[in-house]
Amino acid sequence: MIKAVRGTRDLLPPETALWNFVEAAVRDVFRAYNFQEIRTPIFEATELFARGVGEETDIVAKEMYTWEDGERATLGLVRAWRQTNPGAIPYTPSTGLVIHRYDPDFVAKLKEATVVIDAKSRPTTAALEQLSSYAQFLREHIPDHLIRPILAFPDRANVPNAVQTEAQRLGVELERLDYEPSKSLTLRPENTAGVVRAYIEHKLWDRGLNKLYYIGPQFRRERPQKGRYRQFYQIGAEVIGPASAGSESPARDAEVLEMLATLLDRLGITDWNLELNSVGTPADRAQFNDALRKALEPVKEKMCDDCQRRAVTNPLRVFDCKVPEDQPIIETLPRITQFLGEESRKHFEAVQDILTKVGVRFSLNDRLVRGLDYYTRTAFEFTHGALGAQNAILGGGRYDGLSEALGGPAAPGIGFAIGEDRLVMSLKETAEGVLRKPDVYVAPMAGMNGEAARLARELRQHDVVVELGDDGFRLKKSFEAATKAGAKYILIVGENEVKADAFSLKNLATGEQVSVPRAELARRIQG
Ligand code: HAM
Repeated sequence: MIKAVRGTRDLLPPETALWNFVEAAVRDVFRAYNFQEIRTPIFEATELFARGVGEETDIVAKEMYTWEDGERATLGLVRAWRQTNPGAIPYTPSTGLVIHRYDPDFVAKLKEATVVIDAKSRPTTAALEQLSSYAQFLREHIPDHLIRPILAFPDRANVPNAVQTEAQRLGVELERLDYEPSKSLTLRPENTAGVVRAYIEHKLWDRGLNKLYYIGPQFRRERPQKGRYRQFYQIGAEVIGPASAGSESPARDAEVLEMLATLLDRLGITDWNLELNSVGTPADRAQFNDALRKALEPVKEKMCDDCQRRAVTNPLRVFDCKVPEDQPIIETLPRITQFLGEESRKHFEAVQDILTKVGVRFSLNDRLVRGLDYYTRTAFEFTHGALGAQNAILGGGRYDGLSEALGGPAAPGIGFAIGEDRLVMSLKETAEGVLRKPDVYVAPMAGMNGEAARLARELRQHDVVVELGDDGFRLKKSFEAATKAGAKYILIVGENEVKADAFSLKNLATGEQVSVPRAELARRIQG
């Protein structure tokens, strides 16, 4: 038997009714706060998450579903090259960047051959520099008409100019071969980076302040457990735009948080706890990171491998550590609150003031740094006791520098994502409670399928929920099917009923049976 992959699951009825209930409620709330829906692709360039979420985060370092899309550059190029150069020198790509070092014998052969210069999809800068000087060497030593070098690698911001020029020149050769270089792609582990990419790609700043929401699956290769899946669903929202449109204002932070409180309350989830912190500006954090590095220096040996690495590369991430033995050490570390500059502190206080005014309760948690690198200033989580270990029902915060980190203009933003799986788990409502069962089961007698279908059609046009039977069923079987479907009424469609244009309608709970004229059926069933 082929089963659903570990960490993924089927959502079956009647549980899907709860999901629809939640989604309909959140769409209503989003409408009231003037948010509009955005749908971004489920996979994106790997680089988007590496640069957006951060290379050092658990998500990017350990949890992404990433693959090379298309032919490996090396193999594709060699094949293309062989096709266009029958009888050319055999060419063996090694791992990594493929560059033939200067070798008099090889160069002698080159004089009669085409050369393939090829880089893998993520070459290092050093490798590219090597490539550039090699290309230069070829141009100087071998007559141009004998060389048709081909190069394949994606555009990278850190590629030196000389290499970029070379890549462009050689890229034309590649296009002639109709070769599409392979690209590293990733199933989205979260949706904020995708939304900001779309913001930049479609110049959404022209619209001023964008208030966008999304509902959809995300993918992280985490260890599955209750409330933690490898395919999970998020309901998220982002407020992003130029500062001139008010995107930086603490009023936006407070509005987003108040909306979340309203949303949870409306869904009947009232026992939530809002944990709030400010992770400061990049400048505040640079000081904090220095202090953390210093504080970690004498103790890091005693910590887990991940923390030892984090202590050097990105000390803030030490706060993500879940290893129990490390917790007492982490407790002694300095907190970001001590390093907030005047501006960050004022912003944070303004957010808290508005929350207090609108009556949204919160608690401050100075250990809350969130597991993604893009956060600045306000950071928050809503937790819910009933969820157990995975108690964060949603998380979010400001990401004022993300657009710039992705090559866009300055565009402060704030947003959140709710774990929909966890939200559904926290509901008091049951699937049975929100499911709309059939109002009526239409039971055709022998030869009456057509008449029954006509009647069902009329009723459905009046928004009656109809389950339609089959004239091959005996009456007893129709009654059983109607009961199993949970229908309120059963409606018998026989020859006599059609002639009389009145149908016998039986209430399955009370057993009461009446004959109702066609024109009155819908009203009677709904009443
Ligand atoms: P996050 O904290 O990584 O933030 O995820 C948000 C929520 O998604 C979590 O609080 C949790 O409820 C749910 N979640 C995360 N991983 C899993 C999983 N493996 N299984 C089930 N649920 C999970 C973000 O994703 C940010 N993009 C939020 C954001 C939007 N920040 C600003 N804008």
